[in-house]
Amino acid sequence: MPEPTQSWAALRTFMATSCGVSLADDQHYLMEARLSPVAKTLNFKSVDELVLEAVRPGAPNRVTAPLIDAMTTHETYWFRDTQFWKALQDQVIPKLGVNAPGSTKSFSVWLAACSSGQEVYSLTMFLEENFPALHERTTIIATDVSEGAVNQAKEGVYTVYEANRGLAAPRLVKHFERHHANFKVKEKLRRKVTFLTHNLVTQPPPGIGFDLVLMRNVLIYFPDATRRAVVQKAMNVLKPNGLLGIGATELLPLPALSPGWYPKSP
Ligand SMILES: C[S@@+](CC[C@H](N)C(=O)[O-])C[C@H]1O[C@@H](n2cnc3c(N)ncnc32)[C@H](O)[C@@H]1O
Repeated sequence: MPEPTQSWAALRTFMATSCGVSLADDQHYLMEARLSPVAKTLNFKSVDELVLEAVRPGAPNRVTAPLIDAMTTHETYWFRDTQFWKALQDQVIPKLGVNAPGSTKSFSVWLAACSSGQEVYSLTMFLEENFPALHERTTIIATDVSEGAVNQAKEGVYTVYEANRGLAAPRLVKHFERHHANFKVKEKLRRKVTFLTHNLVTQPPPGIGFDLVLMRNVLIYFPDATRRAVVQKAMNVLKPNGLLGIGATELLPLPALSPGWYPKSP
């Protein structure tokens, strides 16, 4: 039987190298709490056995994917951070010039770290409600490293508890249908988004020439050097007048348009 400290050290190295996610010393409790159900489902005798199998070079995706799902934090909710949506409406879309009268310009968005989809469906609702013509010309790629989160996002099914976190009742009525005891995002919004499993740290971006790249509440999990490299990759795939949106509290050492919004930099 491996020493628990051996599997904790191995898990930390694995999460840092495979996803860039730093686990602090005092987060040891997360290993047992989050991985016990995974070990049970995959028929491992213990969490330690699961970890040591997952970190083995060449370990199968059926072991590594659920471990990454469990060890990443997926906290998200509808229309998170009012200031973000206000800046998008009042500053960002006007600055991009994509909504000028008579414009036929396409509007291309990469929303990274989409978790279970609440943020990207908030974006489609926001565009449909406030910029309907632009919404028609919008293409969105939404990505996350967690296969489980991406699968839920693609399906667009939310429990009553999830649906109630930040979603006003009229939006629930307009954009969702009942799905057994849950709510499902209507096809009209779901078909606007292409979902992909994608790792910000180890993979190149899933396209080029974006008007917007959104990467909110994910950079906080990365050490400085990784954060810088991920931001640089995002900057490289923005159009010349494109903008990067990150969490309002996740400051970058770059000139900002408004808190959390950064023009493309070289
Ligand atoms: C706290 S959630 C943020 C969700 C959403 N952007 C929001 O602001 O509500 C962080 C997400 O980042 C994802 N993530 C962590 N490391 C990642 C990586 N290396 N590549 C892509 N996504 C990653 C996690 O799976 C998780 O879904």
